[in-house]
Amino acid sequence: MSKPRALVTRGIFDEALEMIRETIDVDLWEDEMPPSRDVLLEKVKGVDGLLCLLTDKVDSELMDTAGPQLKVVSQIAVGFDNIDIPEATRRNIPVGNTPDVLTQTTADAAWALLLAAARRIGESERAVRSGNWRTWHPLHYLGQDVYNATLGIIGMGRIGIEVAKRSSGFNMQVLYSDIYRREDLEKEYGFKYVDLETIYKESDFISVHTVLSEETHHLISTKEFGIMKNNAVIVNAARGPIIDSKALYKALSEQTIAAAGLDVTDPEPIPVDDPLLTLENCVIVPHIASASVKTRREMSMISAENLIRGIKGERLLTPVNPEVYD
Ligand code: GLV
Repeated sequence: MSKPRALVTRGIFDEALEMIRETIDVDLWEDEMPPSRDVLLEKVKGVDGLLCLLTDKVDSELMDTAGPQLKVVSQIAVGFDNIDIPEATRRNIPVGNTPDVLTQTTADAAWALLLAAARRIGESERAVRSGNWRTWHPLHYLGQDVYNATLGIIGMGRIGIEVAKRSSGFNMQVLYSDIYRREDLEKEYGFKYVDLETIYKESDFISVHTVLSEETHHLISTKEFGIMKNNAVIVNAARGPIIDSKALYKALSEQTIAAAGLDVTDPEPIPVDDPLLTLENCVIVPHIASASVKTRREMSMISAENLIRGIKGERLLTPVNPEVYD
């Protein structure tokens, strides 16, 4: 009997691929760059499972092209805004993601960006490398203090919570906004539930951890930057389009806020001639927040396990649309 077939749209850890290959014929897209839309549509035809990335758009066209035998979409990421979930659910296709294993690694990365932006690490490192470190000067490279400052978290989900918890070593006051109030966290850690406007008005550091949706697209734009403090530092390790990048450029270049640390941009990759890249007070890294060896290995294994389970018709480890099992 022939094995079921799966398309894996990028290289993942070998042990994960080996595990999949025990029971499934794998078509592995080995290029560094994503398959073009046409190639993706061609390759997905007739597969039983798809292991994909946030750079692959999984919509009704793709599911139609794959065919009715498609049993699972397994995403190697926690976010899944590239996948049309209602459409997958309508077709009874479970979609898996890789939550939890990347929470701590991503929270670390948000802090790396926060500290780098606050203390002008990118700018001053560039100065060292380009021979512009000429002397110690009392007025050079002055940044923002993190200790004793106020941290505003937008989106108190798994990652937001861990970012907030890390602030205790810096003696920070934590404000948070979310659709859900977390009185347990307020009691245990002293976090304060506020509205978004209060986050913008009172925070010295703002860290974005909400999902990207129609409601959060350009959530932070000209008006919001206008309310922020002049010393504010904004960090985004969630999704680029949550921040209006033109408004961010204006706020940073006019220094109505102090700095930004971005793991994500809009679009990705950010074009090399994007005005944000001309700014010394904007630290930008290439969407690497979950990129530790351990975490990416675990993400590979979970996405492989979800793919295998889905193809076998078993419940996924981490389904994002569990209603398909009702
Ligand atoms: C990465 O951005 C992810 O959603 O895991």
